[in-house]
Amino acid sequence: MSLFQKKESAPLPPPNHIAIIMDGNGRWAKKRGLPRTAGHAAGAESFRRIANYCRELGVKYLTVYAFSTENWKRSTEEVGGIMTLLGNYLREALRDMEKNKVHFVFFGDLSRLSPELRQLCLEAESASREYDVQVNFCLNYGGRDEIIRAAKAFAQDVARGEKTPEELDEATFSQYLYSASVPDPELIIRPSGEQRTSNFLLWQSAYSEFVFMDVLWPDFGPRELDEAIAQFHRRDRRFGGAK
Ligand code: IPE
Ligand code: IPE
Ligand code: MG
Repeated sequence: MSLFQKKESAPLPPPNHIAIIMDGNGRWAKKRGLPRTAGHAAGAESFRRIANYCRELGVKYLTVYAFSTENWKRSTEEVGGIMTLLGNYLREALRDMEKNKVHFVFFGDLSRLSPELRQLCLEAESASREYDVQVNFCLNYGGRDEIIRAAKAFAQDVARGEKTPEELDEATFSQYLYSASVPDPELIIRPSGEQRTSNFLLWQSAYSEFVFMDVLWPDFGPRELDEAIAQFHRRDRRFGGAK
């Protein structure tokens, strides 16, 4: 076959659900002698780009880790900067809803956010309900916190006589998590070079494929996502079975 006849193989379809730990903003800023908040602003830009690209690719669910239950340990200046950026982003998302066409869902305990930010989250969620592509925004989210909340909610249903302990199985428990009705992510990507979950999707990641990449989140673009998806397709997923 001549070179010209050689057909490019079509790219494999992306996973249905991709989750990303958006890490490395601080280091990106430090490398440039900028304040950490500038790194978070660049990270927000990266998120916009990747959310659009995921929609183009046909990804159904994108879950992003934006702020963890542990991130409150950072300086008031940094936390305040992140919250301001989030507020700006949500106002912009509300304005551009018809252009972005994504359904926003928030995973996390929003009660610790400012009333204004909480309100913006609720508005973004309800105003975007009609769209099919779902972006799960993890805000003041912790995997352990999510599991404890689910356990408490189930215990309350038992105390009220609506459930019995015998009914509890994996499918039932899943319904008490923030991710109720969302399929588990097939692929979890962590840029920045760190190789840990940092309390992200502890329950849902039981059989996810992890791809760790050396790039910092603000430098993560469509090319890096393509590479992560390609790595995912090279994995042999066995789910405990044998071949
Ligand atoms: C991720 O970037 C954003 C948040 C955790 C809010 P970091 O701020 O953790 O960046 P590094 O890890 O310090 O480079
Ligand atoms: C995980 O990153 C949280 C988010 C990206 C929102 P961290 O930077 O907080 O995680 P550690 O501290 O390196 O484990
Ligand atoms: Mg970090």
